[in-house]
Amino acid sequence: MKILKIRNLCKVYGKGETKVEALKNVSFDVEQGEFVAIVGPSGSGKSTLLHILGGVDTPTSGEVKISETDIVGLNETKLAIFRRRYIGLVYQFYNLIPILNVEENITLPILLDGKKPDRKLLHDLVEKLGLSNRLKHLPNQLSGGQQQRVSIGRALMNHPALLLADEPTGNLDTKNSKEIISLLRKFNRENNQTVIIITHDDRIALAADRVITIEDGEITRDTKGTEVSA
Ligand SMILES: Nc1ncnc2c1ncn2[C@@H]1O[C@H](COP(=O)(O)OP(=O)(O)OP(=O)(O)O)[C@@H](O)[C@H]1O
Ligand SMILES: [Mg+2]
Repeated sequence: MKILKIRNLCKVYGKGETKVEALKNVSFDVEQGEFVAIVGPSGSGKSTLLHILGGVDTPTSGEVKISETDIVGLNETKLAIFRRRYIGLVYQFYNLIPILNVEENITLPILLDGKKPDRKLLHDLVEKLGLSNRLKHLPNQLSGGQQQRVSIGRALMNHPALLLADEPTGNLDTKNSKEIISLLRKFNRENNQTVIIITHDDRIALAADRVITIEDGEITRDTKGTEVSA
């Protein structure tokens, strides 16, 4: 089953001299349960693409369907609800709420949805993310890597069908980085959650089912399975 269908996606920022075509006619599908790595040079449009898939930025033109819902056509309220229920987004620069502590940041999307956080999942997640002794700390009292792990926890708390992660190990050392990737893989395998991860790390790309390369706003390679490790 296809969880994601993207057709002729274009994103233009600015006008005149500052005009940037960040995405040019990007089309692809993703199967439910796929673990996809997106790679490409800095400035090639990776974050732009992920933000549009996550419904936090809008395309200039084109279609984005997630589980048959056309998210481009949703109004803001409906989009916010859809996002909280189906999508987990790990931002390149974390986007934590500065006045909320670690536990509050992680559980916020659940509370906003009017639900009670699953205490066991919260406990397991913070344990696996190495944050158990930082639950009452504010983001500015954490290291960059710890903030990154909080943003991963927040994205995983609502059991998202689609997890979008922008360089989720960009600020982590090799050991932590490996642990995060195996955690994402575990969620992916055990719950059939679809994962799309932007990375500059070749080891992560090699561990993926599929690698999509973006250069200058266009897909230039799309390799699956055994081709990836070949
Ligand atoms: N809000 C914005 N306003 C204007 N231009 C933007 C904006 N966001 C991104 N861009 C431009 O769009 C292009 C793609 O940016 P994007 O952040 O998607 O790149 P990226 O592939 O994620 O890069 P990196 O690997 O450095 O994170 C860049 O040329 C950038 O200058
Ligand atoms: Mg980026």
